[in-house]
Amino acid sequence: MKKILVTGGSGFIGSHVIRLLVNKYPDYLIVNLDKLTYAGNPENLLDIENKSNYKFVKMDITDEAGVFNLFEEYQFDGVIHLAAESHVDRSISNPNEFINTNIVGTLNLLNASRNIWGNEFENKIFYHISTDEVYGSLGDEGFFLETTPYDPRSPYSASKASSDHIVRAYFYTFGLPVKISNCSNNYGSHQFPEKLIPLIINNIKNEKPLPVYGKGENIRDWLWVEDHAKAIDDVFHKGQIGETYNIGGHNEWKNIDLIHLLCDIMDQKLGNSIGKSRELITFVKDRAGHDMRYAIDATKIKDTLGWIPSVTFEQGLKSTVEWYLENQKWMKNVTSGSYLEYYNEQYKQ
Ligand code: NAD
Ligand code: TYD
Repeated sequence: MKKILVTGGSGFIGSHVIRLLVNKYPDYLIVNLDKLTYAGNPENLLDIENKSNYKFVKMDITDEAGVFNLFEEYQFDGVIHLAAESHVDRSISNPNEFINTNIVGTLNLLNASRNIWGNEFENKIFYHISTDEVYGSLGDEGFFLETTPYDPRSPYSASKASSDHIVRAYFYTFGLPVKISNCSNNYGSHQFPEKLIPLIINNIKNEKPLPVYGKGENIRDWLWVEDHAKAIDDVFHKGQIGETYNIGGHNEWKNIDLIHLLCDIMDQKLGNSIGKSRELITFVKDRAGHDMRYAIDATKIKDTLGWIPSVTFEQGLKSTVEWYLENQKWMKNVTSGSYLEYYNEQYKQ
């Protein structure tokens, strides 16, 4: 039985990756290491938590001794590393946690892998999940390629860039069998409503103002989270050791246009008069250092691994809106308590 460690499996993307792997590979043992921060939610995995090939371990990746012991105990064949502090706005108000988790935590996992694998790397993989934000900000033209020089501008993207560099250094220096992928903005079910799409859906549902940073002209390239999970499966099983793969949807949207679209879908779903939700749009102070445009060129993963997105944005967004409307209990649970404190602080004018 192959033993695969997934870190951050109780978060947004991690829970989709765990669900896919547990269901698709009954002969693998999938171990989910997660600290359960505000963003980690056991409810995200209720449907698979009792499967015999799944195990949850509550642990902090910055706990060096704990991580080493876990690797010794399980002798993992592969690591898919998603655990991270992931929200740009939080990295602006509190950068330190990003440095600890995203850089020091990644280093611990690399060292623990070296410790159990020694120089026996056959059929072993350390797969680090990263973001397109490491490449910086684009103007009107061009796309991020795997060869684009790193130019991170937020504490979040700088911490992810740093961890990418360390992972690559372990490949070149120690021969550790690493793979890296850098993905664009994900959307879908189970995303914590600090991120744009679930925040807007939740605020429309509750008839609260829709906060648009600056003029709403920043552009993001959106990918359905289940397509990202499939890409992760492809890179893990078919990607080349030492290689980087960019993953994206070829699906660029100006924030304000996306928010208009969400308003219109929600008005239709809620039976509102057309245009009602758009009245909630409120332009607020811009994010500090707000990257203008992200856009991925995903040619390499398409040509070498045959991966392409499986749904259109229209299909993915519709199913996403439906999921949040049908799972109001999930939303209620994650938006009580500390979320309110975060929200009031972040959006005070
Ligand atoms: P998320 O914030 O929803 O989930 C992060 C998970 O990591 C949570 O379950 C949390 O409890 C766990 N975690 C945080 N700190 C930890 C620690 N110290 N020890 C153990 N577990 C810890 O994040 P996400 O959106 O699912 O992103 C997952 C990964 O994908 C991250 O590495 C992120 O950089 C990357 N990524 C995200 C996006 C996106 O659009 N969300 C795009 C590209 C790449
Ligand atoms: P976000 O979901 O935080 O992802 P990222 O910053 O990693 O791209 O934000 C997506 C875009 O939406 C980004 O340009 C910032 C903007 N935004 C708002 O305009 N209002 C908001 O309340 C939030 C959370 C984001």
